[in-house]
Amino acid sequence: MPVIDIHNHFFPRTWPDFAARFGTPNWPWIKHTDQGKAEIMVGDRFFRHIYSACWDPEVRLQEMDRDRIEVQVISATPVLFAYDRPTEHALDCAKLFNDAALEICGHGKGRLKSLCQVPLQDIDASCEELSRCMRAGHLGVQIGNHLGEKNLDDPGIVTFLHHCADEGAAVLVHPWDMFGQSRMPRYMMPWTVGMPAETQLGIVALILSGAFDKLPKNLRICFAHGGGSFAFLLGRLQNAWEHHPIAHGNCDLPPKRYLDRFYVDSAVFDGRALQFLVETMGAERVMLGSDYPFPLGEHGIGSLIRSSGFASAEKELLLGGNAEKFLGLRTESTHTGASEPAKPIEPRGDQLTYSSYLRVPELLQLQHPQSRPEHHDELLFIIVHQTYELWFKELLHDLDGVVASLRASAANPKSHDHVYEAARLLRRCTEITRVLVEQFTILETMLPTHFLAFRGKLEPASGFQSEQFRELEFLCGLKDEKMLRYHRPTPEAYAQLERRLREPSVHDAFFDALRAMGKLTIPEGATERERLDARARAVLSLYRDEHSHRDWIDVCERLTEFDELVVSWRLRHIQLVERIIGMRMGTGGSAGSSYLKLTLDKKFFPELWEARTLLTE
Ligand code: HEM
Repeated sequence: MPVIDIHNHFFPRTWPDFAARFGTPNWPWIKHTDQGKAEIMVGDRFFRHIYSACWDPEVRLQEMDRDRIEVQVISATPVLFAYDRPTEHALDCAKLFNDAALEICGHGKGRLKSLCQVPLQDIDASCEELSRCMRAGHLGVQIGNHLGEKNLDDPGIVTFLHHCADEGAAVLVHPWDMFGQSRMPRYMMPWTVGMPAETQLGIVALILSGAFDKLPKNLRICFAHGGGSFAFLLGRLQNAWEHHPIAHGNCDLPPKRYLDRFYVDSAVFDGRALQFLVETMGAERVMLGSDYPFPLGEHGIGSLIRSSGFASAEKELLLGGNAEKFLGLRTESTHTGASEPAKPIEPRGDQLTYSSYLRVPELLQLQHPQSRPEHHDELLFIIVHQTYELWFKELLHDLDGVVASLRASAANPKSHDHVYEAARLLRRCTEITRVLVEQFTILETMLPTHFLAFRGKLEPASGFQSEQFRELEFLCGLKDEKMLRYHRPTPEAYAQLERRLREPSVHDAFFDALRAMGKLTIPEGATERERLDARARAVLSLYRDEHSHRDWIDVCERLTEFDELVVSWRLRHIQLVERIIGMRMGTGGSAGSSYLKLTLDKKFFPELWEARTLLTE
């Protein structure tokens, strides 16, 4: 696996005098001072010392060899973005540096790749320049985390990100033009304090605005400097999201559920910070990024990851495996070492196949029958259960969306959009559950004798340990803490279920929304029975005013249907159990079918049923 550094910078050896070309002041220019040394100036202001690694591929390659880095993906420096200048000037500037990057890569012995820059103040021009650059051999684009007052959720920028996904372009978001500089005049504080906050702002804007919900999942986007302060303050964001409706924004899911939508680099310069970052984001989301060859970059590129305590498989991901995915690079092309120029990227269809997208090979490796010799029907037994678990995953995903919509509706009771969205997702949940009820028939093609032939191998594994089934119950509002005991052997499942116990359920979100509409008030000190009655009467009031509440009645009907279908699931499961093992005990130690029959009375939304009785009063 090649070691790939996705965040480092270049400056060409020289470039034209933009101030003279455009007749506007304060353009960056390069002042060569000594052999291999230069200063970047902005107008007549000193900006940064740099050295020849910035422009000389030979020097860069030597230092990469020293640090055992196979590939570097170079990008320009934000000071060259020119987002606040006329489009023609910024485009001219972008083209010049984009072509200069390819020129440097052309002398990189196949080990240097590049990200382009675009005049982000003009989305059409940006899309056009990105497409030109992708054809010319760039692997993606580096953009700033904002455009003046506009954050990354600006509709124009979101359109550009769509275009990046369409082009298969990797996007590196770099903080720049840091806010609050008048309060940070000294000590590089804009870099050490402002930049991390800017990056955090970029990520949070994409999440809370709902931009990630709209953007295609194949968008590959990475935030520099470990995502700034995002990971460390994610708990704060999540807490605000959970407890303050105004902190919700427009996203479908809680903030923590968006971590698989973006990458961060490893430029955090502290072993414990890296450890925390990887634990928060996941080892598949962090990539080596050094900020080389600038003074604030990593000295000894990759040493932070190499010296960490991660398992070698994780280190491989961090050092290069993730970057290959992020960049859409093929492993072979990075191993050649031949002195060919960077090749134009192939069409996306060539990169992503049906199998690679759906992980078919991995999926087909996941069935491990226990019987020896293998019993023919054990494969069916495993696949039916796995299919159930996949659908449970989708149900959890959609029910989380239902909770988010109901909560958004509580925050804005006048809007109907969120109510329709909740009803739409609930319809999907009922359709999935209908399939889940039907699916038991497939397992009933297995003779009881055939199941008994391998049943002994399964103990003590049992359906009691289906974490996702229990999560579904908890998420819908049936929170029975006792059931946690079956998950003690798997701490992750235990922690996830504990989280579900704490989080608002569909039941909570539904009645909170009715409360926000003024339909539900529960007097202080009311008994459990009185509370239930008040909730049922709130539902009743909706049905009694059908004309005004069609949308809410649709939600009620869907919830009722879902409740009904889950009971059907329980019943069909009992029938299956009796058909296969009669009245025997379960592998989980319960009384089997007679225990399961007790669960038939469980209802997620008893108030919806109670309201029906009240209607006939
Ligand atoms: C041969 C087929 C099956 C038999 C004999 C069977 C048997 C049982 C038994 C006896 C229990 C009670 C717990 C125990 O003592 O182990 C149980 C629970 C459970 N089973 Fe099955 N099962 C079968 C298929 C399935 C399938 C296909 C699913 C799909 C996911 C499933 C999901 C569950 C779940 C989620 C529970 C816990 C239910 C609750 O606590 O309310 N089972 N099963």
